Amino acid sequence: MVLFRYPRPLPSEITPKEMYLSRRSLIGGATALGALTTAARAAALQTHSGPYSGSLTPTPHDDVTHYNNFYEFGMDKGDPAAHSQDFHPLPWTLEITGLVRKPVRLDIDQLLHSPAIEERIYRMRCVEAWSMVIPWDGIPLASLLKDADPDPKATHVAFESVLRPSEMPGQNEGLSGIQWPYVEGLRLDEAMNPLTLLALGIYGETLPNQNGAPIRLVVPWKYGFKGIKSIQRIRLLDHEPPTTWNRLASDEYGFYANVNPQVDHPRWSQATERVIGSHSLFGATRQPTLMFNGYGEQVADLYRGMDLRKNF
Ligand code: MTE
Repeated sequence: MVLFRYPRPLPSEITPKEMYLSRRSLIGGATALGALTTAARAAALQTHSGPYSGSLTPTPHDDVTHYNNFYEFGMDKGDPAAHSQDFHPLPWTLEITGLVRKPVRLDIDQLLHSPAIEERIYRMRCVEAWSMVIPWDGIPLASLLKDADPDPKATHVAFESVLRPSEMPGQNEGLSGIQWPYVEGLRLDEAMNPLTLLALGIYGETLPNQNGAPIRLVVPWKYGFKGIKSIQRIRLLDHEPPTTWNRLASDEYGFYANVNPQVDHPRWSQATERVIGSHSLFGATRQPTLMFNGYGEQVADLYRGMDLRKNF
């Protein structure tokens, strides 16, 4: 992300709401088709409809699975789909350790068959100023953390992606500057918020490798880089853990990374976003970015009294 520059959008590029809504219904039709044609390798998940999905229309399946950030497989948007075919997401164990009374080791099969899997259709806003709407299938992180019984001293949660250079070409190159494995973190109350999800699928099917198979984090009110992929370890801590992008450029990527149209990235505006999968005469359209990505009602209280410019 440090490597790309995005031009400031002109006010005329912001799509009027009526146009945006009618375009979304068109996209919806295309979505169903996309899901059918690309379902080949994925297994269906038993999912029930969850709360918080609203009336959002998902981005076409083909865009969700071919416009990705997953630096373990390369730095271009098409690299993850092209270079993740030799990655083996099964078998897999997810562990929850650290300041917990009952450390947990979860087999992915158990999770994939969990009755707690729900569908959540969430907006996703990347810090690079583009956005999608993704229908996730996942388990609220809070329910898994409660099973591990957090120690009262725990204040933060650290997440760690898999380290497997033999299957992840990007981990052998120094190009991205990332210190592997990819790591992320949340405050414990953020992790326990009902919106926070561990996703096992998209579109009712297990996660494609490029989207973070077999399990990844989804925190819809934060910039997409908080959504760490292919998670192996979750640890509860009594301090804020280091996070990958903050380590690379702390003045550009904060620990909180809450979507905030009023706080620009040092190199581009965060006021609007390019809608992936949308089309106009001049390319993808733009829409205004919403505070907390539109989830303020559910999460604004977490940050009461904090200076969101300082804690960006
Ligand atoms: N997780 C890992 N392990 N490696 C990554 O490079 N990229 C992040 C995040 N999680 C990344 C990651 C970024 S920058 C974004 S925007 C989202 O994943 C992209 O998720 P998507 O490709 O499923 O849309």
